[in-house]
Amino acid sequence: MSQSYSVPDILKGLDYIETRDLTLEQLDLLLEVTDELKKRFHRGEQTLLLPHQTAYLLFFDKSTRTRNAFEAGMTQLGGHAHFLDVAHSQISHGETAADTGRILAAMGHGICVRHDLIPGAGNRYMREMAEASNVPIINMQCDVDHPTQTLADLFTLRERFGTNLQGLKIAVSWAYAPSYAKPLSVPQGLITLMTRYGMNVTLAHPSGYDLMPDTLESAKQGAAASGGSFEMVHDMDAAFENADVVYPKSWGVYDLMVERLNLSSAEAQTENERQCLERNAQYRDWICDERRMSLAKPSAVYMHCLPADRGAEVTDAVIDGPQSIVFQEAENRLHTAKAIMACTMRERPF
Ligand code: CP
Repeated sequence: MSQSYSVPDILKGLDYIETRDLTLEQLDLLLEVTDELKKRFHRGEQTLLLPHQTAYLLFFDKSTRTRNAFEAGMTQLGGHAHFLDVAHSQISHGETAADTGRILAAMGHGICVRHDLIPGAGNRYMREMAEASNVPIINMQCDVDHPTQTLADLFTLRERFGTNLQGLKIAVSWAYAPSYAKPLSVPQGLITLMTRYGMNVTLAHPSGYDLMPDTLESAKQGAAASGGSFEMVHDMDAAFENADVVYPKSWGVYDLMVERLNLSSAEAQTENERQCLERNAQYRDWICDERRMSLAKPSAVYMHCLPADRGAEVTDAVIDGPQSIVFQEAENRLHTAKAIMACTMRERPF
């Protein structure tokens, strides 16, 4: 028989759009609830914290982990998640974020959105929706942050290294990918969050793969406040030197990604993507292989949000090797998604 469980109210009714919007106390609560929900999941106990509630999952981009973490998570909390493909909704005919948010809020209890591929678009969309709706907006990845991913990453690091991450070195590095120009939000989310938890963050990328300036500024401020550090290099080997954690993944060329906001035709978008991948191909040697792993500490762990381009971002030997914690990291997407929904969504009075 499971013991009853409830979560504190400090996040009830709030949006979850960037980790920068939350205090450390609020983030710590999410980590505590994640821990409890994970234990109960593995013991086979029910955690019906959101009975009969509805979360809308609005996707402007593809997903495997995030969609399934939220869908399965909502079921496990006793509610239901509706999947909404933007291409098959009136959003594709121009219905605004505000109108969509107001209508979905009237019918359910939370709205989760992925809108990540166009710098300047996704975060703004979510904030417009939040302004118009009276239920929490949860960011399932935007152009600025991927806060459900980075919370899972933080939780995974605490499982491995303990709750005090002060002084651990994490290398957040660009890596080559031929599949598509990936969003900037994971590295941006990592540098802004991990610096707040006292980590020594080294960001590495080839010239031209910059991140949004305000996220770099947040990383500097986070490090100054926590006693961690933040540095940037253009050398993957240097970033890996003596690291406790390596997180090599691809993202798009900054200037080309920023251009996307003003590209209206499908032809222009296709050409932009082609140019991104052509530029990526100049840096095929930015791969996480066993030689590079040997530059990090012997105890170092390999992380990736997934999906990874095997043979390009990382070799099979590394991602399937003993230092890889990517599948633990992916499972933790479920538990953190549940914690975020359970803490923010509120029961409606009859
Ligand atoms: N890491 C992540 O967000 O995976 P999906 O794109 O499959 O959701």
